[in-house]
Amino acid sequence: MIILKSREEIEKIRVASKYAIEILIYLGQFVREGLKTIELERLCEEKIRKIGHVKPAFKGYNGYPYCLCVSVNDEVVHGMPGERILKDNDIVSLDFGTRYDGFCGDAAITYGIGSIPKRTEKLLAVTEGALYKGIDETKAGKRLHDISHAIQSHVEGAGFSVVREFVGHGIGRNLHEEPQIPNYGEKGTGIRLKTGMVLAIEPMVNMEKGDVVIRENGWTAATKDGSLSAHFEHTVAITEKGTEILSVL
Ligand code: MF3
Ligand code: CO
Repeated sequence: MIILKSREEIEKIRVASKYAIEILIYLGQFVREGLKTIELERLCEEKIRKIGHVKPAFKGYNGYPYCLCVSVNDEVVHGMPGERILKDNDIVSLDFGTRYDGFCGDAAITYGIGSIPKRTEKLLAVTEGALYKGIDETKAGKRLHDISHAIQSHVEGAGFSVVREFVGHGIGRNLHEEPQIPNYGEKGTGIRLKTGMVLAIEPMVNMEKGDVVIRENGWTAATKDGSLSAHFEHTVAITEKGTEILSVL
């Protein structure tokens, strides 16, 4: 069942989402060569504690032990912060969810360290571009897979691959609600989009093949062929006034 949100509920999701992106941007300044990924978790916790009225949404979710997901290079999503030291040319996907007054917000950004190669630069730009192509299709009256199709064609048109094992999702009182939003699909299919829907759209894009494997920690997805993977995510609402990205400052 898809839970439609009232204007008041969307305002709460907006607050949660604003903090999610604010913290991701804040953390971005620390993403450089020599940093241990666990430091990002510490900085994130400290920042959220200072804000006070927002809580991390991932910690404890299905037993996930951290506030933040930190996925480096071939890690696709659900990378865990730890003792790994970031180096020049790494790409680092940070994914962060928040809760405010009972409602969740979710966002992700991939950062490159130092002077990453042109093709890596392109992977990040195409993934973020695919997110915005998906958001452009997020309109009342359109179909769910119009979003999926727009993402897939942008990614494949650039010579990269979408990950099929993970999806975007509805968001509200729960981090993951219906509908699931695949990053591939047929135009004109899927449920009809309506005012009151709030969706977390999140393309995950691999430089080579789309296949993934799950690492020994039971959480982290990585590309099967070892190629790089990028991830961008926004929380988006369909309102009477049109579509709004909620995870913006
Ligand atoms: N944004 C990701 C997702 O929607 C991160 C979830 S991490 C988890 O799947 F730990 F909360 F599962
Ligand atoms: Co998400």
